[in-house]
Amino acid sequence: MAAGGVILEVEGVSKNFGALAALSRVGFAVSQGQVFSVIGPNGAGKSTLFNVVSGLYAPNAGRVVFRGREITGLPPERINRLGIAKTFQITNVFPEISVGENVGVAAQSRSAESGRLASLWRTADVEARVTELLEAFGLVARRDELAENLSHGEQRYLEICLALATEPTLLLLDEPTAGMTPGETKDATEMIRRLALARGLTVLLIEHDMSVVMGISDRVAVLHFGEKIAEGTPEAIRNDPRVIEAYLGGGGD
Ligand SMILES: Nc1ncnc2c1ncn2[C@@H]1O[C@H](COP(=O)(O)OP(=O)(O)O)[C@@H](O)[C@H]1O
Ligand SMILES: [Mg+2]
Repeated sequence: MAAGGVILEVEGVSKNFGALAALSRVGFAVSQGQVFSVIGPNGAGKSTLFNVVSGLYAPNAGRVVFRGREITGLPPERINRLGIAKTFQITNVFPEISVGENVGVAAQSRSAESGRLASLWRTADVEARVTELLEAFGLVARRDELAENLSHGEQRYLEICLALATEPTLLLLDEPTAGMTPGETKDATEMIRRLALARGLTVLLIEHDMSVVMGISDRVAVLHFGEKIAEGTPEAIRNDPRVIEAYLGGGGD
């Protein structure tokens, strides 16, 4: 379990779409090195929360604080440069260059952005970083393959590699295992856990499927119709009657 200080604070965040309150005064705090998961039925507001934290949406009320600095409403590129990376869907992968080149480009974009670090990033460092990430996700043998030739599950792995190549402090994942086989899902979730343990990476994992988060989360918050209805350890959440009811009765599937 993580022992670090608070790295991300979401305080009283509300987000409306017209008359719809997609988020109502949602708050929680994520500590350094934690895997913190936000779960809830379809339509609960999970992706809206993801988009508020990553800067795509400005909330109607509330604050987002990252490492003690308010980032509410900053543009996504600024938030990214401060050390919050997210997986985009397929859009972030260049299909017509190799797997290894994709990860290399992402690692280099990091060095180019943070001018101070640029001179420290030699080609050898980028190559070492690429190898490390590909090894972690079992993609080494696919290094020279065009990204477009990867299986769907492998492409999702590659997206996570691209996000990690930028050396983030906080990794945001929105349903990272969508479209994966059960075997890939198991491997990917274990990988996320290992990354948090090995590198002190902090992960905010947004996930519809409760079973995916249970084994790997330090803490779980539950959204239902835009409100946080529970927060606690996976064990407490699994046995919370309100959570069980939300999943049985509410939202989508
Ligand atoms: N850009 C948008 N415009 C209007 N309504 C939206 C928009 N994004 C999400 N919503 C609505 O907000 C609610 C929460 O959506 P979302 O955050 O995508 O839920 P989840 O990711 O938990 O399935 C839903 O009712 C959805 O229809
Ligand atoms: Mg969603």
